[in-house]
Amino acid sequence: MYHALALLSFFSVVTGQLTGRVGPTTTREAKRAVKVCNILDYKGVASKTADIGPAIVSAFNACKSGGTVYVPPGDYGMSTWVSLSGGKDWAFQLDGIIYRTGSQSGNMIHIEKSTNFEFYSSISKGAIQGNGYELHKAGKYGARLLRLSQITDFSVHDILLIDAPQFHLFLASCTNGEVYNTLIRGGSEGGLDGIDVSGSNMWIHDVEVSNRDECVTIKNPSHNMLIEQIYCNWFGGCAIGSLGTGTDISNIVYDKVYSVNSNQMMMIKSNGGDGTVKDCVFRNFIGHKNAYGLDLDAHWSSLTLQPGQGVEYENLTFSNWKGSVSDGTRRAPVNVICPDGKPCTGLRIEDLSLWTESGNKVLWKCGSAFGTGACLGKGSGSYAVSTVTVTATPTGWNAPTMAADLATLPLTTSISIPTIGTTYYPGATPYSKLLGA
Ligand SMILES: *[C@@H]1O[C@H](CO)[C@@H](O)[C@H](O)[C@H]1NC(C)=O
Repeated sequence: MYHALALLSFFSVVTGQLTGRVGPTTTREAKRAVKVCNILDYKGVASKTADIGPAIVSAFNACKSGGTVYVPPGDYGMSTWVSLSGGKDWAFQLDGIIYRTGSQSGNMIHIEKSTNFEFYSSISKGAIQGNGYELHKAGKYGARLLRLSQITDFSVHDILLIDAPQFHLFLASCTNGEVYNTLIRGGSEGGLDGIDVSGSNMWIHDVEVSNRDECVTIKNPSHNMLIEQIYCNWFGGCAIGSLGTGTDISNIVYDKVYSVNSNQMMMIKSNGGDGTVKDCVFRNFIGHKNAYGLDLDAHWSSLTLQPGQGVEYENLTFSNWKGSVSDGTRRAPVNVICPDGKPCTGLRIEDLSLWTESGNKVLWKCGSAFGTGACLGKGSGSYAVSTVTVTATPTGWNAPTMAADLATLPLTTSISIPTIGTTYYPGATPYSKLLGA
C-alpha cells in the first residue's frame, strides 16, 4: 500500500523520464497464492556445504508459469550455476543466504526472458555471498552474482549482493523495471561492477553500492532511465559507458547521487565511436573525497580507440553539484573533453560548487565542449583543451556527509553481510519501506 501510494505521487511529480509504469504487474501475494515452490521440497538442503543449484532449477521448472520459487531463511552452498529462462508471472523469494562454493566463471544466477517477475527478500535479509576475496587474493576473477536479461515488468529489491568474484548485478536489455532497497558491497578493485544496466523505462532508486568500480552505470543502448537516491559509498563511480560505435542513449536522469571515497561523481566515457548520448540530466550530486567530479571524457584512454569520429553528446544538463574532490589541481573537478570531430553541444553546468580538500584552487578543463556554465565554450567548431583556474571558494560547497560512510573496504579478506540501510542521500527518504522493517 505504502508502495502504491509512493508510486502515485512519484508519477505526478516526475515527468518525461519514464515512459510508463515499472515493476511486476501482479503482487507477491497473488503469485504465492498460485503456487509456492519451496526449494526444500525439491531436494534443496539448508547447508553451506550442499549445492542449492539443482533445487533452484527444479523449483523454477515447477513454478515458472506462475508462482514463487522460495528459498527459506538459512544458509545454502551453491556450486553449480543456474540459468532460468522463459518464466512468466513468477517470483524468486530469497530469504536465505546463498554462499558461492563453485569456482567456475559465468553467472551464479542468470534469469532471462521472463515477464511479470519479482526478485526479493520478504525479510530484507536475503543475500548472495560471493566470497570473491578467495579469488581476489590469488589475483583472479570469477563468477558474476546475478544477471537479468530481456526481462519485462519486473523488480529487484530488499536483497544484498556481497563480494562478487566479478560483477554484482547486471540488467541487460530489460524494460519496465524497478530496483530498490538493495545493498551491494564488493571488494576494493576494478572489474567488480555494482549495477550495470541497459534497456528502457527503468527506475533504480534507493540503492547503496561499495566496490572499486561502477556504482550504477548505464550501458548502451538505453533510454528513459531514472536513477535516483544512490549512495555510492566507496566505489569507482557512477558512469555512462564505456561507449563505442552505435551509441544510442537518451533521456537518462540521475538525481540525488551521493559519492564518497570514489574515483568520480559521474563519468561519461568513450574513445572514438559514433552515435549519440542526448537529453540527459544529472542533478543534485554530493561528493566528498573523490578523485574526479564531473568527468566527460571522449578520449578515455582505458578504452582502445573505436572506429568513428566520436560519440555525439548533446543537451546534457548538470545542476546542483556540491562537495569537494581530493585535489582539484591534480584532477580537475570539471573535466569535459569532447571529440574534436563531434563537439558537444547544448551542455549546461549550473549551480556547481565543487571545491578541493587540499590546496586552495581547482581547475576546470573543457575541450570542444559548447554550452553554458563552467569552462564550456560559446559558438561552434572545435577547440583544444582549455584550463580555467578557480581560486574563489564557491559558496555552499560544504555539503552534508552520510553517517554510514565507509572508512575502508577490503579486497583479500572476507566481507561480512551488513544490513540494508534506510537512507541513501542526505535528507531524502526512501520511496518504499524495507519489507523486513
Ligand atoms: C533536453 O533534454 C531535456 C531532458 O530530457 C528535455 O526535457 C528537453 O526537451 C531537451 N531539449 C531539447 C532542446 O531537446
